[in-house]
Amino acid sequence: MSPSIAQRIAALRREIERHDYQYHVLGDPLISDQEYDALYRQLDELERSHPEYADDDSPTRRVAHGLLPGFTSVKHSAPMLSLDNTYSLEELEEFDARVRKPLGVEQVSYAVEPKVDGVAVHLRYEGGRFVQGLTRGDGEKGDDITANLRTIRSVPLRLRGRKTPELVEVRGEVYMEAKRFEEMNRRREKDGDKPFMNARNTTSGTLKTLDTAVVARRPLQIFVYQLVRAEDHGAATHLEALELAASWGLRVNPENARVEGFAALRALCLRWATLREQLPYATDGLVIKVDSLRDQRRLGLTAKSPRWGIAYKFGSTEAETTLRSIELQVGRTGVVTPVAMLEPVMLLGTVVGRATLHNFDELERKDIRERDRVVVEKGGDVIPKVVRVVSGGGRRGPRFPIPTKCPVCGGPLTRDPEEAAIRCENLYCPAQVRRRIVYYASRGALDIEGLGGKTVDALIDEGLLEDPADLYDMTVEQLMPVERMGEKSASNLVAAIAKSKEAPLERLLVALGVRHVGASVARLLAEEFRSLPAIAEADAEALQQVPGIGPEIAASVAAFFGSREGRALVRRLRERGVEGRPPTRRRRAEHGPFAGKSFVLTGTLSIPREEASRLIVDAGGKVVSSVSKKTDAVIAGEVAGSKLEKARSLGVPVWDEARFRKTLDEAGVGA
Ligand code: IVH
Repeated sequence: MSPSIAQRIAALRREIERHDYQYHVLGDPLISDQEYDALYRQLDELERSHPEYADDDSPTRRVAHGLLPGFTSVKHSAPMLSLDNTYSLEELEEFDARVRKPLGVEQVSYAVEPKVDGVAVHLRYEGGRFVQGLTRGDGEKGDDITANLRTIRSVPLRLRGRKTPELVEVRGEVYMEAKRFEEMNRRREKDGDKPFMNARNTTSGTLKTLDTAVVARRPLQIFVYQLVRAEDHGAATHLEALELAASWGLRVNPENARVEGFAALRALCLRWATLREQLPYATDGLVIKVDSLRDQRRLGLTAKSPRWGIAYKFGSTEAETTLRSIELQVGRTGVVTPVAMLEPVMLLGTVVGRATLHNFDELERKDIRERDRVVVEKGGDVIPKVVRVVSGGGRRGPRFPIPTKCPVCGGPLTRDPEEAAIRCENLYCPAQVRRRIVYYASRGALDIEGLGGKTVDALIDEGLLEDPADLYDMTVEQLMPVERMGEKSASNLVAAIAKSKEAPLERLLVALGVRHVGASVARLLAEEFRSLPAIAEADAEALQQVPGIGPEIAASVAAFFGSREGRALVRRLRERGVEGRPPTRRRRAEHGPFAGKSFVLTGTLSIPREEASRLIVDAGGKVVSSVSKKTDAVIAGEVAGSKLEKARSLGVPVWDEARFRKTLDEAGVGA
């Protein structure tokens, strides 16, 4: 007996649905496009000549006829929230801590998913049939865009499998692949239509189109990323829930992965920074979710977003902007550097308005001029830099002249042939004075609370301050009239300054700002000579006898204490009782946990470099500036650059900040 018309129609629909699933959901077609078209045509003809067997869920009915009357607004069965963003691994670690604390666990299982850059939608299936699709809208109510979503081949009109639940609600992202978006644009240009600007906006516009025939021609796809009320379907974890959804024929991103604990999460995030480029669609980050549904419930929601999930945004490390002007900056040692003042631009989650131009050689080599469009980058250093000019025709300003006079004191500038640096030799140049004092009081040096750049500026303006020794002469009465200084902050500041007299000698040595004398060298000098006058009197040869101090450092130290200015400063400090407390336990650090070990710091840590160096030195270690095979570990903060690469290539161990702190904690060396 030949099959009835009804049976033939049903068989063709099943066959076409199967091929739609293979092609659009699994991405694994079993037949050619021509074979598929032939099946489709057969079904279409049969349905046309036998309208009595019409069915809205037939694959031929994805496109409704005529224009939609408009969209109705529908209340969501549960609010459609969004996620908070993080822009750094540090912030992500804070998220991990926020999750672990209430759960009282050491380690959390996370689902990590690409954050597909598209439009969020909600799909509702009743009795296995797709009955309603909504936009996110305001989160409470969304637009009913069912007819448009039906045109998307990876949205099944019927769920697969015999025993699908009576009610299934899922959420996901509708998007366009980059290649298909470009293909569509090429077709449009050929047809004389204007190309679209970007895939995400086109997706969003398309879903709000009233003509479903138009929607059907756009290359939309979906990934389902959430099963609503997943526990009702027997899932214990989020990824299990997505597996269930996949078993019903819904399209789930194959890149989704599970990781255990923060270290693994961090490693995966770092891998994705490059992996993302291989994806056929745009992602602007990763979505990280606590995998256990029970833990998700325990963590709950805030008004805006769940506590169990977060978006980790890939920082664009480069951004384009306009260089408003080039300003000159005079550093602590008199080096004059060009600084780019930028039209503010977002970079890795912060607004960047200034960037370094390094030195005049570089400025010339890159031919950077005022008013240029430039690319700025945040690399291994904290400070953003201008990497290049975006060439784009138009008239450019003149080349920036290499200065011959100090922009602050007007004194002559000399060129240091070895350093590509241009230097103001006037030690009393107000810019240098200011920076020296700020440095003297900074956290890595004498750590005088309440004495930041603004206060120093005000005190210099008042004529109260010319060098660090003047700090010790200031009285509350003198300070009070200074801008924004009440009696309380004035007496606090006087007390903080007085307290700095008791600081350890090595800190005082750092504070003097001698070239090449950081925490490591200062510790060596303090331990060897044990008093400020002893160090001041040592000549280069004696200094070089100290293990770890080479000729360059020795020469610099000797030159500082031999100079008129250096001697005067030391004398004036000593007259005011500032001598530096000699180390109590001699060479204690030799027995520290880092004894005999050398470290390189790179990238941004949550504490200033000087502070990190001091911790290392306190633990008996040494901080060196470049990575070699002899380096014991590289401590890498955020956005670490070439030193990190070098460490990897040499097989030198790399510690993140957490590991560094843990090691110190265990050794009892605290910040
Ligand atoms: S989960 C409670 N997972 O990113 C919010 N969102 O603000 C649950 N997105 O609105 C969202 N890929 O449009 C989730 N794998 C993914 C996602 C994803 C893209 C979008 C979504 C959401 C926004 C986050």
